[in-house]
Amino acid sequence: MLTLSSIAKNFGGLQVLQDVSLAIPERGIFGLIGPNGAGKTTVFNLISGLLAPSAGVIEFHGQALTGLAPHRITRLGIARTFQNIRIFKEMSLLENVLVAIGRQGNSGAVSFLLPSAKLRATQRSERAAAKELLARVGLADKAELLAGKLSYGEQRRLEIARALATAPKLLLLDEPAAGMNGAEKQQLMEEIVKLEASGLALLIIEHDMRFVMGLCHEIAVLNFGQLIAQGAPAAIRADRQVIEAYLGDDGDGEKSRS
Ligand SMILES: Nc1ncnc2c1ncn2[C@@H]1O[C@H](COP(=O)(O)OP(=O)(O)OP(=O)(O)O)[C@@H](O)[C@H]1O
Ligand SMILES: [Mg+2]
Repeated sequence: MLTLSSIAKNFGGLQVLQDVSLAIPERGIFGLIGPNGAGKTTVFNLISGLLAPSAGVIEFHGQALTGLAPHRITRLGIARTFQNIRIFKEMSLLENVLVAIGRQGNSGAVSFLLPSAKLRATQRSERAAAKELLARVGLADKAELLAGKLSYGEQRRLEIARALATAPKLLLLDEPAAGMNGAEKQQLMEEIVKLEASGLALLIIEHDMRFVMGLCHEIAVLNFGQLIAQGAPAAIRADRQVIEAYLGDDGDGEKSRS
């Protein structure tokens, strides 16, 4: 579904990615791991159109994404969350999701042209859709709360609901479990499995190795901007180069964090 071919990215003289090639299948959960600064978030920024590659091609369903603005890429079916959560803390959860739905352009700018009965019907159906999205991430009962009142883990789930509002085929999650406690991580894993079962493909960056190994069907490992391994979780965990660069001998992926 998504292919990266020989991608390079430089920031001035700093080469952050070098000859990165990846193929993300239509279905399943794909992991992208590696030490801090390896270039993982940069890969997401390139896929989502926030940055342009210095070399190489990214294609989604055979269409080159090069030069497309982020909102065009979203409309093609790729949504993402951010390592640093981006939500509106002064708005309710429901409003947060409604804004994301509105950006799809069904009501929004032209709403003043609609007869009021039709507008009310649109608003009702958007509210129902927003509640449904909150339910998918386990936040239905908090719809009217201010987003700023949520725990860190809940804010991450709200961000996923906002990403889902664009009806993606591929969802990119940048460290979704960061700052979550064990119970929250477990709940998020279950929700991600359900998202995958509903037909979504996921590409996940995450440092929590229990989370990554437990969820992903396939994992790619970046180190200093280069892919050093790709394969099933068991093969990655046993890979000598991956252990040396990232996992450490206890295999918990914390080597880079110490
Ligand atoms: N916009 C930018 N301008 C200059 N340098 C950047 C920019 N974005 C990222 N970098 C640099 O690129 C390198 C890779 O950063 P990136 O954020 O992709 O790493 P990462 O693998 O996501 O790390 P982490 O696990 O800490 O989130 C780092 O050295 C970073 O400082
Ligand atoms: Mg990052």
